[in-house]
Amino acid sequence: MRSWRGSGDQSGPGGRRRGPALVTGRQPGAGQRPEIRRLTQDDDLAPVLDLARRSFGPFGAEAAAARLADTRESVADGRHLGAFDGGRLIAAAKYFDMVQWWHGRRLPMAGVASVTVAPEARGQGAGRALMTALAGQIAARGYPLSALYPATAAVYRAVGYELAGAQYQASVPARSLRSLLPPDVAAAGRPDGRVGLRRAGPADAAEISAVIGRVHEAARDCGPADFDLGTSARLLDDEHLFCYLAPDGFLAYRWQGGNSEVLVYCATAGSAATARALWSVVASHSSMAGTVRAFCGPADPVSWLTREPDVSLARHEPWMLRVIDARAAIAGRGFPPSARADMPVRLEDGLLGP
Ligand SMILES: CC(C)(COP(=O)(O)OP(=O)(O)OC[C@H]1O[C@@H](n2cnc3c(N)ncnc32)[C@H](O)[C@@H]1OP(=O)(O)O)[C@@H](O)C(=O)NCCC(=O)NCCS
Repeated sequence: MRSWRGSGDQSGPGGRRRGPALVTGRQPGAGQRPEIRRLTQDDDLAPVLDLARRSFGPFGAEAAAARLADTRESVADGRHLGAFDGGRLIAAAKYFDMVQWWHGRRLPMAGVASVTVAPEARGQGAGRALMTALAGQIAARGYPLSALYPATAAVYRAVGYELAGAQYQASVPARSLRSLLPPDVAAAGRPDGRVGLRRAGPADAAEISAVIGRVHEAARDCGPADFDLGTSARLLDDEHLFCYLAPDGFLAYRWQGGNSEVLVYCATAGSAATARALWSVVASHSSMAGTVRAFCGPADPVSWLTREPDVSLARHEPWMLRVIDARAAIAGRGFPPSARADMPVRLEDGLLGP
């Protein structure tokens, strides 16, 4: 998965050496531009956490340790940029190494996160300059796509991101899931409970990724995304997260609000029998939890499994996409086998060039 990387990136992942400045100098009519460069292992990372605290609100010691570990990894991998004003860190942003499915095909995607500007430096162009440099880095590393969840849109629109989809959260009374509709007798398939579900953990990251990939490929899904294996294994290494794996499905959930709710992060299934088996595990918590919340979209089969129309979409978080390399993105995405087209396309990218 990493072999496509680094084609245009001459300086490699962030090492001990201080990286070259990506942006520096004077911006006409806008005062002194910050110096923007990759963070390196020589940099003090405490100001990065300080920026996050000031930008996103308080977090406890456990979350701070996890954030620091994440930051060390993105810095070591050259995926974290900082903007400096007179040597002081005033803004930072990073991206995750991810994949996204487009019509069932897996495309490398840079997932932008932790975009933070110090409160006293906001509204002066630092965010836009940082995002411009980050998009350049993402392009230099050969990603065809980049995506992010925007807290505000203008700064991302300015560098070519646009709203392209949403992550939905469904809500269902846990007791509704206790009585899933019986399987369609006319449909072939094994009865519930015989799909070979087993507990899964960090050591299963590669298998989980393969199973999820096969389901998205078969469904010709557009939009879902996944982390690289290292990040996935780290996310799975959490005693409060409960995971189950089937040959064609994966379930991950945790308690929320004490034990009053269950939050399902992923219930992906490639067959009706596996979908029933995964949701039955969730339903088994209905003696404790009143509500099940689940990250799943309007087309998720869970809406058809309950006897009553009890599944409601409670919340959705929009995401923005930027096509970084149009040629690679179009070549890499899937198309229906019957689709044939021959047309000249002229694209102009004012930020990243042809
Ligand atoms: C959002 C943030 C990164 C923007 O950085 P910034 O340096 O203030 O942005 P810039 O000065 O470069 O402004 C770029 C554009 O975004 C707009 N913008 C900046 N902050 C905005 C806000 N809070 N709400 C709406 N628009 C905003 C600017 O008006 C400007 O638009 P324009 O080009 O049409 O004039 C910064 O305000 C911040 O760190 N906020 C707190 C944390 C956060 O929300 N991070 C984003 C997570 S997705």
